[in-house]
Order: sequence, then structure tokens, then C-alpha cells
Amino acid sequence: MDIRLLQSSDLPLIQHANLENLPENYFLKYYLYHAMTWPQLSYVAVDVSRPQKTPYDQPKIVGYVLAKMEEEPADGVQHGHITSLSVMRTHRRLGIAEKLMRQAQLAMVETFGAHYVSLHVRVSNRAAIHLYCDTLGFRNEKTESKYYADGEDAYGMRLELSEIR
Ligand code: ACO
Repeated sequence: MDIRLLQSSDLPLIQHANLENLPENYFLKYYLYHAMTWPQLSYVAVDVSRPQKTPYDQPKIVGYVLAKMEEEPADGVQHGHITSLSVMRTHRRLGIAEKLMRQAQLAMVETFGAHYVSLHVRVSNRAAIHLYCDTLGFRNEKTESKYYADGEDAYGMRLELSEIR
């Protein structure tokens, strides 16, 4: 498995993975905005074990993290934000999401001097909550009522990046 920076040519595959894995979906131009504005922050996981039968065969993208810097932070503190993260069902519980997150977090610090990283997650999403809280050390800052379009609440989470600064 290779973890590498997201390229613009990956975007249709990322959009496809997002549609497969999450109810929060975006127009292609929003992915493009991330790729053009913060090209250092978003990563993909590529399954390189699949044999390339023709020169036109693309390696399969099995996970992505789409990340950005907060453009006008309300608290005035430079910080990153995870817009979307997902791993295809066939490749879950192999540590891919953890690797993608750690790469994005490191890049936020190294490139933009981020002090912390934030994200939202559905209160029912046990797998992601385990990853964020137990594996990566995020803490729940506040519960945002009816944050999602279907009325579900979100945990607003945050991880201080001081240790890797
Ligand atoms: N139940 C409980 N714990 C789990 C589960 C699960 N279903 N899946 C993973 N974990 C744990 C792992 O055991 C591991 O814990 P450990 O460090 O104690 O060993 C930890 O989470 C990290 O596991 P990874 O293998 O790195 O996670 P994975 O690659 O399977 O991806 C993810 C996790 C991204 C949540 C995946 O299940 C997924 O794509 N789900 C659907 C999309 C989604 O929910 N994305 C997050 C939405 S929030 C947002 O985008 C900001």
C-alpha cells in the first residue's frame, strides 16, 4: 500500500470513493479547490499490489483524506481541518485511515505551522470515533445539534498538534 499526495487526476476516483462511503458528498469543484489551494495536505492510499495489465491501467485508490487549512479561523489560531476521510470497505482495519490522518496532520504543521486540527463526525460513527479519539488522540470539544442534513448531531473534535510542531 502506498500513501502519496493527492493529484488533480485522482479527483474523479476520490469523488467516487466518497459517494460509496459517506453521505456527505461534494461537487468536483470543491475537491479541486482543496487540491489547488492546499496541495500539500490531502493524501490517497493506492493499492499497488494489483498487477498493471496495460500502460493505461490506473492503480486503485482505496482511501483518501481531504484536508485544508481554516481560511478565517474564528479564534485567530492557524489550524487545519479534515473535510473528509474514507477507506473502501475491502481495505478497512489495515491501518490505512490512521496513516492518511498522520500524514495530513504532519503536513499541516510542516507547511502551515498549524496549532491544531479539527473535524466533525457523526455521533453514531463508532469506527471513526475510535480512530479519532483512541488511536489519534482527538478530544470532543462540543456536540453540534442537527449538524448533518438528515438531522444527526456531530461531535466537533480537535487534536492539538504541539507534539509534532
Ligand atoms: N469499529 C471499531 N473500531 C474500528 C473500526 C470499527 N468498525 N474500524 C476501525 N477501527 C479502529 C481500528 O481497530 C484501529 O484501532 P487501534 O488503533 O486501536 O488498533 C483504528 O480504528 C484505526 O483503524 P484503521 O485501520 O486505520 O481505520 P480504517 O482504515 O479501517 O478506516 C474509517 C476507518 C475511515 C472510519 C473507515 O471505517 C471508513 O471509511 N468509514 C466510512 C467513512 C467514514 O465514516 N469516514 C469518517 C467520517 S468523519 C470525516 O470524514 C471527518
